[in-house]
Amino acid sequence: MQICRTVFDLRAAVARFRASGEGVGLVTTMGALHDGHMALVSEARAAHDRVVATIFVNPTQFGEAADLETYPRTEARDLEHLEAAGIDAVLIPEIGEIYPEGDETVVETTRLANILHGAVRPGHFRGVTTVVAKLFNICQPDAAYFGEKDYQQLHVIKRMVRDLHMPLKIRGVPTVREPDGLAMSSRNSRLTEEDRAAAPILARALDAAQSMGAATVEDLARTIRDTIAGEPRATLKGLDIVRLPDFTPATGRLSAPVGIMISAEFGSGDNHVLLIDQREVHP
Ligand code: PAF
Repeated sequence: MQICRTVFDLRAAVARFRASGEGVGLVTTMGALHDGHMALVSEARAAHDRVVATIFVNPTQFGEAADLETYPRTEARDLEHLEAAGIDAVLIPEIGEIYPEGDETVVETTRLANILHGAVRPGHFRGVTTVVAKLFNICQPDAAYFGEKDYQQLHVIKRMVRDLHMPLKIRGVPTVREPDGLAMSSRNSRLTEEDRAAAPILARALDAAQSMGAATVEDLARTIRDTIAGEPRATLKGLDIVRLPDFTPATGRLSAPVGIMISAEFGSGDNHVLLIDQREVHP
């Protein structure tokens, strides 16, 4: 596995792959790798001759400086995982490499970035699309892999690629779960033992909604609210049921697939952890 710290080195690695006629898949990450990331890597590994990964904690997608500072950085361990999974080249750039001095260009999906999760995290999705567009330009892969768990992010990136005619495919990869259903996330390690035991309530609420058969959006919402209200350690923070692919609010009886996105807080005070989960429900 080639470790590249500069755009120049990563481009040279990709140029060598291309010169041998090889296809390239890309997995972008912010490090702190867990099985969810490794599922993206194995999907990419199965589909391409070469797979490139990036590890870059992107400052422009963080609202609060404190979140950026405390974001886990586990480079040595991450590199071991990537090497063992058969990654061919990894880009680990300094901030100035991605955002050169005087940088003033951003990429934004103007509506989709500013609704739902985007409305409570102003600038977050603009930071994501800007860095992802840069990473696509640097690597120029045939396809890039993103987790369905970050559901709005996946759709924002698909929209950017479509709107800007970027020549690659975006592949969504199903959420990887712990045996009790909890979606894997680097945040899970911050849960107390009691909150960790309570956290699968998100997946259970989504399971309950999914198994309702013929239902209205309002029924689905009620089932999710009631299930989460039954777990005293969880506070439901967000529940959105949207039409696809535009993410406009869905209402009434289901006649087409909808996306359900939930977020709930566990713990209190400085110890609170916000977890998200999602599900697509088909009529
Ligand atoms: O999902 C993530 O880890 C990040 O948002 C991404 C796509 C790597 C952009 O920084």
